[in-house]
Amino acid sequence: MAKTKITVNNNGSLRVEGEFEIVDKHGNVYGLGGRELVSICRCGMSKNKPFCDGSHKGHFEHEAEAFDLPPKKQ
Ligand code: FES
Repeated sequence: MAKTKITVNNNGSLRVEGEFEIVDKHGNVYGLGGRELVSICRCGMSKNKPFCDGSHKGHFEHEAEAFDLPPKKQ
């Protein structure tokens, strides 16, 4: 299985690359026009959700630093 990588960008989007598909709540697939890399909005301001349209610039702050989640509850 191909690896999918999600990068949490500082002050902006989630960059998704590799092999993946994006579906809506009904399971319908978003056509990506052959792209293997897309940016997903995480600021809520994009007019092209779920994709980033650059609206975050200057309006969204989050410095991404990786950390470990606590163990999953059984
Ligand atoms: S993260 Fe770019 S518009 Fe929301």
